[in-house]
Amino acid sequence: MYMLKKTILTAAALLVSVSVTGQTVRMDVNLKKAGAPVQPTMYGIFFEDINYAADGGLYGDMVKNRSFDFPYALTGWTAYGKLQVMDDGPFERNPHYLRLNWSGHRDKFTGVENEGFFGMGLKKGEGYVFSVWARSDGGKLRVELVDNDSMTETQILAQGEISVNSKEWTKYKLELTAPVTIEDAHLRVELVGNVSVAIEHVSLFPKDTWTGREGGLRKDLAQALYDLHPGVFRFPGGCIVEGTDLETRYNWKNSVGPVENRPVNENRWHYTFGYKLFPDYFTSYGFGFYEFFQLCEDFGCEPLPVVSCGLACQFQNDDPSAHVPVDELQPYIQDALDLIEFANGGVNTTWGRVRAEMGHPEPFNLKMLAVGNEQWGEEYPAHLKPFVDALRKAYPQIKIIGTSGPNSEGDQFDYLWPEMKKLGVDLVDEHFYRPEKWFLSQGARYDSYDRKGPKVFAGEYACHGDGKKWNHFNASLLEAAFMTGLERNADVVHMATYAPLFAHVRGWQWRPDLIWYDNLRSVRSCSWYVQQLYSQYKGQNVLGLTWDGKPITGADGQQGLFASAVQDGNLIYVKVANTSSSPNTIEFSFNGLKKADVVKAVKRIVYTSPDPDADNTLDAPEAIVPRQRIFIGEGKAITATVDPMSFNIFVFER
Ligand code: AHR
Repeated sequence: MYMLKKTILTAAALLVSVSVTGQTVRMDVNLKKAGAPVQPTMYGIFFEDINYAADGGLYGDMVKNRSFDFPYALTGWTAYGKLQVMDDGPFERNPHYLRLNWSGHRDKFTGVENEGFFGMGLKKGEGYVFSVWARSDGGKLRVELVDNDSMTETQILAQGEISVNSKEWTKYKLELTAPVTIEDAHLRVELVGNVSVAIEHVSLFPKDTWTGREGGLRKDLAQALYDLHPGVFRFPGGCIVEGTDLETRYNWKNSVGPVENRPVNENRWHYTFGYKLFPDYFTSYGFGFYEFFQLCEDFGCEPLPVVSCGLACQFQNDDPSAHVPVDELQPYIQDALDLIEFANGGVNTTWGRVRAEMGHPEPFNLKMLAVGNEQWGEEYPAHLKPFVDALRKAYPQIKIIGTSGPNSEGDQFDYLWPEMKKLGVDLVDEHFYRPEKWFLSQGARYDSYDRKGPKVFAGEYACHGDGKKWNHFNASLLEAAFMTGLERNADVVHMATYAPLFAHVRGWQWRPDLIWYDNLRSVRSCSWYVQQLYSQYKGQNVLGLTWDGKPITGADGQQGLFASAVQDGNLIYVKVANTSSSPNTIEFSFNGLKKADVVKAVKRIVYTSPDPDADNTLDAPEAIVPRQRIFIGEGKAITATVDPMSFNIFVFER
């Protein structure tokens, strides 16, 4: 009885709170005419090798320092017995290798063991392809997958032998099957017998990679990108484009051709781990520009490469001498032109031939290029200008993307936008990692942008909770709310990419991120689901959507609501983010229908979480996912109630 009373009271309290907190909102959907087209490039991917996104992440090789070319040749390896580090190997840009020698005694061994990236993840019953370049006069190698935590003979999980019977450098391969699932395996390569063997470029890839490519990408991570239905793919960053210094900037020419000869590069994020005493973050360039273009092709999205403009990371370099003087930029400009040739040039051009030799004679059909990442100050337009001149001359059809600096507003931003207009770039990249308050205040951000100027590329954004700098549902809800403004302004905002993309749970230096993983599992964050919902319900044209004649932007008096609408053939998608802690009842009223016509409710997707601070985790990857709810109705107006703190997509048919 007490329980019953309590339930009735609670229900009554809820009813009271509904009627007290919100008036029914009438949203007018204007079907009279279709608005601006939603660009096919909308909602994309920003990839940067931060948080072990490439090596140790998307790139499938599990061996760290596979070519012994980190500054300390044995970083990542434990060596035992008698061996020498040599530097006259077969790959001139990665010259180091090891020579494993007989210890001189039957019971003493020589070998090396690789720790991988926080271990190596193996899955029971799955095949792993080991490969090594080696030479010897008849020596032998034993290859083992070992359980790093086991102290007994059970530590050897799988084993095989390779006879190295050529004195010339030759690639040898061996497939091993994992008998167990384990997150932290190691790879051991040991000399058998008394004949020395030289080893170089040691790799271990899962056999089951994305689309089955040999030496390819980690399948679950590539799948998580594919499932986003991206329209554009920005690569390779981020600050990594600029480098800690110019020497360590991302050099695309080092990222193509045979992987064995792609020189190791120090990562821009190498020194940024608060908890690591010995940084060891280098890039193998294994996931390079060819693999990037290939992945864009797999996904059916537009590639958006970013190149250095000759300015090293300005956060890390105050001294002007760290940057290239404007009159010495020619090699950098040539790099940009050559990249377009690599993507689009005929097979008889220098760089088109490199692409063809890698297996892709057809062009990749590149349409745009960004020059510089988060640059600022007068030096940026000064550096950008010669690029614009050269690119316009050689490739007038290529769109150029400039930047507005690292901030979403303020002096640098206000200075750079007009400069970008003067230079006539096609799009301007804007970045905003901002707290809740900012996202709540920016629903109308693009409503007043110049319709005749360059278009907007919202190139890096994420809600960084105030004091809550981790992934959580509320941050993703505010991103969804903000994105209604991107959608409504489709005539101005042509591309948008959340950032950063990937993070290894044991090797991150920046959060929140879109997708997290360990060596076996991955999890799609709440922000990932928001991005996916926008892509899935992208539509073709914007539709007018107003409340009392005004766009719904979370403005004062709008009850925490943000909304936008698009049409997709006969379908209408209305996105509503309710950021308030009260429900809101909405009457969708469809204007412009013929007298006899009605609109039908088709379905409704609701994204909400009982705990706004929670997110999906590796142990509960689908704890907070969008759900479909029953949605029935027909007429010139249809009513629905949205939950407190929820993102909703209403699908109607006309
Ligand atoms: O996304 C992480 C970093 O944020 C990017 O490298 C940089 O462009 C921005 O400062």
